[in-house]
Amino acid sequence: MRATFRGNSSFSRWMITICAFCLLLSGSQQALQAAQPSEQSRTDIFTSATEARADALLQQMTPEEKLGQLNQLFRFGPSPKMDEQIKKGEIGSLLFVTDPVELNRLQHLAVDNSRLHIPLIFGFDVIHGFRTIFPIPLAMAASWDTDEIEREQTIAAAEARSVGIDWAFGPMLDIARDPRWGRIMEGAGEDPYLGSAVARAQVRGFQGPEIGTPDHVVACMKHFAGYGAAEGGRDYDASYISDAQLYNVYLQPFHAAVEAGIGSAMSAYMDLNDVPATGNQWLQTTVLRDQWKFRGFVVSDANAVRSLENHGFAKDPADAALRAFTAGINMEMAMDHTAYSTLPAALKANEITLAQIDARVKPILEAKIQLGLFEHPYADVPRSKQVLNDPAHRQEALRAAERTAVLLRNEGNLLPLKKSAYKRIAVIGPLAAGKHDTIGSWAFQEDEKETVTVLDGLRSKVGAGTDIEYAPGVQLSRYFPSFFDQIFHETKPAKWTDAQAKAEFEKALSSARSADLTILTLGEAQDMSGEAASRSSLELPGEQEKLLQAVTALGKPVVLVLMNGRPLDITWASEHVPAILEAWYPGTMGGAAVANLLFGDAVPGGKLPLSWPRNVGQIPINYAHNLTQDSSKQGERYWNEPSTPLYPFGYGLSYSTFTFSNLKIDEQEGKVGQPVHVSVEVENKGSLSADEVAQVYIHQQYGSASRPVRELKGFRRITLAPRTKTKVEFTLTPADFRYWSAATRDWVEDPSAFDLWVGDSSAATLRADFQRTR
Ligand code: NOJ
Repeated sequence: MRATFRGNSSFSRWMITICAFCLLLSGSQQALQAAQPSEQSRTDIFTSATEARADALLQQMTPEEKLGQLNQLFRFGPSPKMDEQIKKGEIGSLLFVTDPVELNRLQHLAVDNSRLHIPLIFGFDVIHGFRTIFPIPLAMAASWDTDEIEREQTIAAAEARSVGIDWAFGPMLDIARDPRWGRIMEGAGEDPYLGSAVARAQVRGFQGPEIGTPDHVVACMKHFAGYGAAEGGRDYDASYISDAQLYNVYLQPFHAAVEAGIGSAMSAYMDLNDVPATGNQWLQTTVLRDQWKFRGFVVSDANAVRSLENHGFAKDPADAALRAFTAGINMEMAMDHTAYSTLPAALKANEITLAQIDARVKPILEAKIQLGLFEHPYADVPRSKQVLNDPAHRQEALRAAERTAVLLRNEGNLLPLKKSAYKRIAVIGPLAAGKHDTIGSWAFQEDEKETVTVLDGLRSKVGAGTDIEYAPGVQLSRYFPSFFDQIFHETKPAKWTDAQAKAEFEKALSSARSADLTILTLGEAQDMSGEAASRSSLELPGEQEKLLQAVTALGKPVVLVLMNGRPLDITWASEHVPAILEAWYPGTMGGAAVANLLFGDAVPGGKLPLSWPRNVGQIPINYAHNLTQDSSKQGERYWNEPSTPLYPFGYGLSYSTFTFSNLKIDEQEGKVGQPVHVSVEVENKGSLSADEVAQVYIHQQYGSASRPVRELKGFRRITLAPRTKTKVEFTLTPADFRYWSAATRDWVEDPSAFDLWVGDSSAATLRADFQRTR
């Protein structure tokens, strides 16, 4: 199995590298008005019985025992020192333990030896699967199918919990509008409405209806907050976000997760408006607890507390601990020793109070109690094998990958391919046979043997009468190596010499020449996106563009399958390559899904969760921008090319054709504070059963502050049989009209006139309007 860690030394290097990047500061941002009033808040995440039990436990604990609960350490391989600390109750949580036997041994150290028998809580990065790997989170969002996303995270939770992991470090809720940022692949893209819907689905999936539901875990929203706006798209760099953008965009998915009852949060690495997130009292206390009434606990990102010193914010580790603690960080995640270990001294020096300590410790104890860890602290090892091997999980991974793919182009209906039409298919490109590339980053526990690559998928799909020849054509590698590469067993193949590279390129071309169809699988190797995987350009890395153009020039049919975690510059392909399917990193069953999609055993229905830029110069780009000065004439924004994206947010084709008609708004003359009911007819005009995503956008024409040209306010993915139609209804609630106004510095719902569009993307043209008066 590839996906295990090598051990302490490589992991230390990894963490040291992380630390080198973490710049943290603290302080407080100006106080803003109260949070947007919530309609369905579920912040009562712990029962009164849980709370009473936590209070009783707190009364029995010494200050040292309490402070021990605030320490979380990475665990790789044996560490007698750590074992002793666990026995003494000096550690509340471990992360990265995935072997249930070892996990049980460690849990016994805590439960059997610590004075009050308090169990550890085990955390892990369960991001898009545990053993069964689903498409990356950006792809999940591209499904626009919240039920599907909930099912995926339910499975991920069950697999993780079966080995004793109680706490998933997901969902990642950072809005990202700059695809240079490598971690864009871990989130739901650019939009706060879609991002919030995906956030809620993930919370439901990870946690179940409430914290403590069997076979579920506590979820952790991260990275709180503003990490996705890193300057220049450079990972870990500072973010500068206006208050209005914070409230209306970046904080929205986090608030949605809190309202959905999430149990924990992770602080972000970077400075937010010059105040580091991990020392940011305004963020971690004023917004999260005072405004949103969050009752769970906050963990720092790895080594982020100690890094407050690196950032020129804290004087030394003791000061860093004090400032993170005071800001509201409950637990410190650290490599091998925490800055929080200085807190007993801070207590003695009266720098912190017992009441503050109780407030930090209590939600951690509550989570442990409500998870049932005091009654069932150990993993059931034989049962975990059954859970991990459940074939239904792999079936769901197949369905998920089919539902996340986005068809970007299909000239002359080249797709779906006819199974018997091709005698010889050339499969070309470095990613077609890459197991780890199929999985994507942030997956550590998958079974490589069961990962289906695009090449595997195609080979099993075509009949005996079709030959498939594979040639990678080019090799991919980062200029600066990834620190994640160091922690995988996978050894990278030796770099080709110039002569080899030339020969491989020619081999791929000659294979395409002798085939009737070429399927090119291009994009980015998995280590090219994710953490510390930002880049300054969006071109297809390496010689891929050259290969693509050379193969296309042969004049034979070409299908381009993209595998990547961010939009890439495919302007040339969008004009010259007849069929382009965005497969993202599709997970364990990814290759089978791609084969099903290409040969019509599944129909693409995914939609872009972001605006796809023409090139890097357009970044940042998002559909929900403000209108400002008249922008109707071409050339008044950029004179060299359109300022629109290559593909708009919400875009994605199907093998069928859909129409939208009969758009109706019940409250044409409505009142502020009341809902608006919208209906539209969607018709499948084609001859295949297929999916469409009906999307509703609004624009407020005037008000206390400028509003975006369009904002998503509703969506629904529907399946329609051939030549049938259905009526789709949406209710826009007052919350859909409320926004934080930079002019009034408060939440407002303006009386105004509104445009409304419904259609298959953010470029929808079916329009109606309505008014809302006081
Ligand atoms: C650092 C990452 O930023 C965070 O997302 C992750 O959960 C932790 N490391 C733990 O691996």
